Amino acid sequence: MRIMRALMAMVLVWLVAGTVAAQDLRPRVLLTGRSGDDLSGQWTYSKDLYRTGLTDINGWVAKSRMQRYRDVDVAAEEARGGATFFEFDLDRGPQMGIPGAWNSAEAELRYYNGLIWFQRKFTPQALEGRRAFLRFEAVNYRAYVYLNGKEVGRHEGGFTPFVVEITDALRSGENRLTVGVDSRHDDQSIPTEITDWDLYGGITRPVRVIYTPATFIDDATLELTGDGRLAGGIQLSGPGAAGQAVTLTVARLGVTVRATTDATGYAAFDLKAPRGLQRWSPETPVLYDVGFATADDRVSDRIGFRTIAVKGNEILLNGKPVFLRGVSMHEEELGSNPGRIINEASARALLSEIKYGLNGNYVRLSHYPHSEVTVRLADEMGLLVWSEIPVYWTADWDNPAVLDKARRVQAETIYRDRNRASVIIWSIGNETPVSEPRTRFHSALSDTVRSLDPSRLIGAALLVERKTVDGHPVIEIADPLLPKLDVMAVNTYAGWYGDDGLDDLPGMVWDVPADKPLIFSEFGADALAGYFDPTATHKFSEDYQAQYYRRTLAMADRIGNLRGMSPWILKDFRSPRREHPVYQNGWNRKGLLSETGERKMAFEILADYYKDKLH
Ligand code: GCU
Repeated sequence: MRIMRALMAMVLVWLVAGTVAAQDLRPRVLLTGRSGDDLSGQWTYSKDLYRTGLTDINGWVAKSRMQRYRDVDVAAEEARGGATFFEFDLDRGPQMGIPGAWNSAEAELRYYNGLIWFQRKFTPQALEGRRAFLRFEAVNYRAYVYLNGKEVGRHEGGFTPFVVEITDALRSGENRLTVGVDSRHDDQSIPTEITDWDLYGGITRPVRVIYTPATFIDDATLELTGDGRLAGGIQLSGPGAAGQAVTLTVARLGVTVRATTDATGYAAFDLKAPRGLQRWSPETPVLYDVGFATADDRVSDRIGFRTIAVKGNEILLNGKPVFLRGVSMHEEELGSNPGRIINEASARALLSEIKYGLNGNYVRLSHYPHSEVTVRLADEMGLLVWSEIPVYWTADWDNPAVLDKARRVQAETIYRDRNRASVIIWSIGNETPVSEPRTRFHSALSDTVRSLDPSRLIGAALLVERKTVDGHPVIEIADPLLPKLDVMAVNTYAGWYGDDGLDDLPGMVWDVPADKPLIFSEFGADALAGYFDPTATHKFSEDYQAQYYRRTLAMADRIGNLRGMSPWILKDFRSPRREHPVYQNGWNRKGLLSETGERKMAFEILADYYKDKLH
C-alpha cells in the first residue's frame, strides 16, 4: 500500500510539474465582447500540400520563392525580368469566401487535408496612439499568421478564439494579411485524427481587427452567485492598468458600482443582487445590458443571471429541479454542402428545431466548443448548453504536453463563454475507454475546470459496461472518473450497435449509482430520410429509427435518477467514416432531421415525449 501511495504521489507531482498552473492557462490577450472591423469576405488562397511555404525539403526554412507569406508584388517583380522568380502568387490566386471550411468551398478541396495559405488585404484605421489586434474566432487546426511578411502569431486548436497584436506590424495604406492553415491532426493533437466528423479545414469563423486604447479592458465578467450576489471582475491590460478607476453599470437594475484596479490591473465587483433582478431560464431568457468602463475604454455584454447546482441526484436551475430536454448537435449548418458557416440565421434555424420543434430546453454542443454565435443565441432563445472540449475517443494520455493542450482548449473556452447564462455544463471528454492514464488525464482536466470556473457543473460522456446477472444483460456505469464529475452522462446504443432487439430495450436493467444526476448524453440510430419499412425491422429505415426511439425512451423512463437526455443527433452530418453507398455516402444518418432539415418519423416521437415532460 505504501508503494502505491508513493507511486501515486510521484504521478501527482509529475502531473502538476509537467503542466502549467491553471491561472497561467489564460491567453495573454482575450479582447472578449468586442465587435471590431470584420474581415469576412473573399480571400485569395494557395494550396501547399507539401508545406513548401514553411519548410524546405530538408526541414530547413522554405526557399524564398515559395514563402507564401512574403510581402511582395509578384507580378511587378516578374515584369522587371531578371533571375528572381516565384512559385506562388497570392495576389493572383483563386478566391474563397471566409469564414468557412475549404472542404465545401471547392470540389477539388473536398477531402484536402493539409496546409493552405490565405490572403486578405485591408486598410486599417489610423492608430493615433491606439493599439491594434487581430482576433480569430477559430482556425482549424493550426494557424500561422503573418502581416506584411512578418510572423505575428501562431495558434493550435480548431475551435477556440485567439488574438495576435499587430500594432507594430501595421503600416498606413494597404496591409497584406497572410494566414497559413494546416488542417492535419496527429496523435498529439486535440482531437487526434480519429473522429466521426468531417475534416472542415480552414478559417472557419470570423476574423476581426480590433483597436483599443494603450490601456484597455481585456476581459470583464459578472454572474449571480448561489447566495444571491452579483460577482465578477474587470481585467485591464496595458501600461496604465494598475490603479485605474473602473465602473460597472446595469442600467435596468439601477446598478452603478465604482472600483479601482489593483497592481495587476484587476478589480472585483461584489454586490447584493438587486430585488428586481429577473433570473434567466429557458422559459424566461432575460438578458441585461451590462457596461464595464474606464476613463477611455468601454465594453458591454448582454448577460443572463441564473444559478445552477447539483443537490443529491437532482440538477437545480435557480434552485428548482430541471429535466434537460435536449439533443446533441454538431457545428454544421442545414444544407446539402455544409461548410461550418455558422451565422445568426443558420444557428437560429438549428436551435429553433430544438426549442420549438422538439419542445426542448437544452442542447449538447458536441464534440468541441461551438461558435460564440450559437452560444449567444442559446442565451437569447433560452436553451441550456452542454459545452464540450474535443478530448474524443483517444488522446496521448501519458503526454504532459498533450494534457496542457487540452487544458488550454478548456481555458480558452471558459474565458470566452463564462458570461453565458445558457452554459451550465463543461464536458471534459467523450467516450474515452477507461485506463489509468486516461483517468489521470481527465481528473487533471476536471481540476482545471473547477479552478477556472467553480460556478458550473462538470460532465463527460462516458462509456457503459455490460455484464450478465442471472442470465440477463445488465448495463452498468462504473467509471473511476465519476468522483470528479458533478453529473454522470453515458452514451448508450443498445438496439443499434450490438445484437439487442428493440423489444429487449424497455426491460433492460441498469445498474447506476443513485447519488448523482444521470444524463443520456447519446443514444441514436441511423435512418435515411424517405426510406420506409412498415415492419420496422430493417436498420436505416425511418420506421426502425422511430421504433428505436419508442423503445429507448421506455427504457429511459425506468431509470430513477435520469435528469436529462441529448439523443444523437439533431441532423445528419458529414463523416468520412460512413460510406454505405445506399444509406450513407459520407453522412452519419442518426439525425432526427435529414441534412436539409427534413423531419424524420422519430422527430415527432421525441417532440411528443418532451411535450409530456412539460407537465
Ligand atoms: C459515438 C460518438 C459520436 C458518433 C456516434 C455514432 O457515441 O460519440 O461522435 O458519431 O457514436 O456512432 O454515430
